[in-house]
Amino acid sequence: MSAVLTAARSAVRAARPSARAIPAASLSLAARSVHTLPKLDYAYDALEPHISGQIMELHHSKHHQAYVNGLNAAEQSYAKAPSPKEQIKLQSALKFNGGGHINHSLFWKNLAPQAQGGGELAAGPLKDALVADFGSIDAFKKKMNSVTAAIQGSGWGWLGYNPDTKKLEIVTTPNQDPLLTHVPILGIDIWEHAFYLQYHNVKADYLTAIWNVINFKEAERRFVEAAKSA
Ligand SMILES: [Fe+2]
Repeated sequence: MSAVLTAARSAVRAARPSARAIPAASLSLAARSVHTLPKLDYAYDALEPHISGQIMELHHSKHHQAYVNGLNAAEQSYAKAPSPKEQIKLQSALKFNGGGHINHSLFWKNLAPQAQGGGELAAGPLKDALVADFGSIDAFKKKMNSVTAAIQGSGWGWLGYNPDTKKLEIVTTPNQDPLLTHVPILGIDIWEHAFYLQYHNVKADYLTAIWNVINFKEAERRFVEAAKSA
């Protein structure tokens, strides 16, 4: 073996951290992923006039950040919980903050400025499936809006793909519960923080406006993937 290779291998060994030197507790914490706030693909004001920049900034930088922080805190507490009883106590925080992080991460991708194709549903597999399952695109939007508006309190309206029936269906989840029965194709946040600063109590106006900035390309990508793996 050449001296250069030997020296290089020694250097690699020296640089490699010794697992024996790190306490087991630190290792398990180091291996845990820390959730972070995803960046948006567009500026906060890029969805105006349909969703105001003020709403987007607060929604993303304050509300979503709070779910991320809450999830990280709950996961850390869970890892340190001394008994199953203490772990069970954390289930609600994990579900609420974990669901909030999952749902909002999907929601930002659901939206796109009109200059980037927001609101446009091009001919393709998603449009064909929506027409087949709901009769027309207008009928689909109308049904999605009425089902979402009827949610009591806070929650989410979803266009989901049912892997059993292989159909697109409109479903809802309360609070920040993530959609588990279907593959989420499109989600609409109907928490007041998503619309109140601009639309006040008129949910119907928010629900009408949001279709102008729906990212149907992303929805179609999810639909094609879901149908392929069903
Ligand atoms: Fe939200």
